[in-house]
Amino acid sequence: MSTPLPGFEEFGEPEPVAPGRQGPDDAGNSRTGPGAVSPQEPLQGLLHPAAADRSQARPAGGREIAPGAVHVPGWLTVAQQRELVAACRGWARGPAPIRHTKLPRGGVMSVQTVCIGWHWQPYAYTRTADDVNGARVAAFPYWIVELGRRALVEAYQDAAAGDGYTPDTALINFYDGQAKLGMHQDKEERSGAPVVSLSIGDTCVFRFGNTETRTKPYTDIELASGDLFVFGGPSRFAYHGVPKVRPGTGDPASGLASGRLNITMRVTGLDG
Ligand code: SIN
Ligand code: MN
Repeated sequence: MSTPLPGFEEFGEPEPVAPGRQGPDDAGNSRTGPGAVSPQEPLQGLLHPAAADRSQARPAGGREIAPGAVHVPGWLTVAQQRELVAACRGWARGPAPIRHTKLPRGGVMSVQTVCIGWHWQPYAYTRTADDVNGARVAAFPYWIVELGRRALVEAYQDAAAGDGYTPDTALINFYDGQAKLGMHQDKEERSGAPVVSLSIGDTCVFRFGNTETRTKPYTDIELASGDLFVFGGPSRFAYHGVPKVRPGTGDPASGLASGRLNITMRVTGLDG
């Protein structure tokens, strides 16, 4: 790649080839290349963590930050994080490659973003990435729907919380050590269904505010690798942002040598 985006080298670089790791794996999933996981076909472990991995996962439940907003630390095992990173690397390469989103008034976001299902650009969803290369974005795989349903069950400690939850888009954000995300609402969706957020890599300060203003009152929490954050119900349209990433706090075992990856799945409420 001739002009990699800052931080993309670490995020987009293929993982080293481990001997004997090519071809179908033990679970029968095929790999498309050396060490690669197809974004459409993750390894079984993502949905059904092996017993050894489950022991790393934290006890059920989380902390309510605001009504409908729940933080579940350490929800993803390290193996699950690696699978998600591999899938996101695939999407970051195309069909619409990851990029710094341009803002209507001429600014450029410090975060790099790639979308699946629907493409988000300020401030609308389309099926094609018209501000990137015009390509239709990758399909939203069903395994992410299932992951989202499990996330709601876990965060809300309610076996029925995932029923009928069918996210159809995800924004995949990559933060290098300097990247930030200003306070904003996720409000281009025509649905009040919860947003499910998964974080991998470096820890960040995540600021979760109120539905009325960008300013206080808000709560700052730290989102670390493997953490789940869900915001729905009365908090669905709360302002939130990422004022700081803490470089060097991630464990390369997550599959991310540096930086922070965040995946937010959403229900657009759009047809077509
Ligand atoms: C977002 O607000 O879209 C991303 C939040 C995060 O990176 O944690
Ligand atoms: Mn957001």
